[in-house]
Amino acid sequence: MDSQKPTNKKRILTGHRPTGPRHIGHLVGTIDNWVGLQDTYECFFLIADLHVLTTDYEHPGRIQNNILEVLADWLAAGIDPDRATLVLQSAIPAHSQLSLLFNMLVTVSRMSRIPTYKEQVKELHLQPSLGLLTYPTLQAADILIYKANAVPVGEDQLPHIELTREVARRFNQVYGPTLPEPDPLLSAIPRLPGTDNRTMHTSYGNAIFIRETPEETTQKVMNMYTDPTRIHLTDPGHVIGNPVFAYLDAFDPDREGVAELKERYRLGKVGDVSVKRHLAEVLNQHLAPLRQRRRQILARPGELRDLLRLGTEHARPFAEANLQEIQDKMGLNPVL
Ligand code: TRP
Repeated sequence: MDSQKPTNKKRILTGHRPTGPRHIGHLVGTIDNWVGLQDTYECFFLIADLHVLTTDYEHPGRIQNNILEVLADWLAAGIDPDRATLVLQSAIPAHSQLSLLFNMLVTVSRMSRIPTYKEQVKELHLQPSLGLLTYPTLQAADILIYKANAVPVGEDQLPHIELTREVARRFNQVYGPTLPEPDPLLSAIPRLPGTDNRTMHTSYGNAIFIRETPEETTQKVMNMYTDPTRIHLTDPGHVIGNPVFAYLDAFDPDREGVAELKERYRLGKVGDVSVKRHLAEVLNQHLAPLRQRRRQILARPGELRDLLRLGTEHARPFAEANLQEIQDKMGLNPVL
């Protein structure tokens, strides 16, 4: 990590919860987007392990391995630790300390109206914890503790960025101009559906993972949902809303070939099986170099941990200095 890197670049912070290996839905529009931003921005990529506990605190044994899984997938996909700072959230207590301070600035009713929270409560069928309710103020702390100017996220995270902006605004109103209101950076590429055409999700059994074997990928592709209205090969097929074509749009470099295939599909001149065989090949070809890098990276987990430690140590002084400034402004200036 080069501590002399120029600081005139705008800063971004984004991250993932370490919930397990990354799938192609994480790649398209998210990690691929981050990789491209590394040239233009000073980048902080956060492993949000504290956020895992908001819903999954009963499985402490999973977290450490999942951190390595996520890191290996990030690096395999092109996150470059020479240009970006990798941060482990729980290793910098200033994140949690700042979230506690931010909790003072937001009402309970504002927090309980956040759509991601309401969805989780409905989906998980459980009594939400205080930790889940305050998930977004911890996220706001992650972002504002580095005074990040922008946050590349998927659309699902927009309510959290909106809250982050509100917290910054409120803070500045009460204590004077201190925190930037960060802009969300949305990718232009639409989100990939799962193999069953629902949202792709690690726990839905509808995700294609970077880490799986080509055979597993092929098998998942051959079982994919396509066009339920199409019974015979000669029936005209639908391309829109068909995840097989969404994947081809995202991964097949032969644009003309895809356009042709779509036309033949619409006319009932090509069967699902041959389109899927082609897709399996395209996907496995795209993922092959990532899978190889991933294996190489995971063969040396010690180095992976070192990278995370180095990044975290690089980030720590920024976080502590900003927390200090915020505490001072809130009247916690220690006379000791
Ligand atoms: N909530 C984000 C997600 O589930 C993860 C996250 C935690 C994050 N802290 C963040 C994303 C700060 C962007 C910025 O994907």
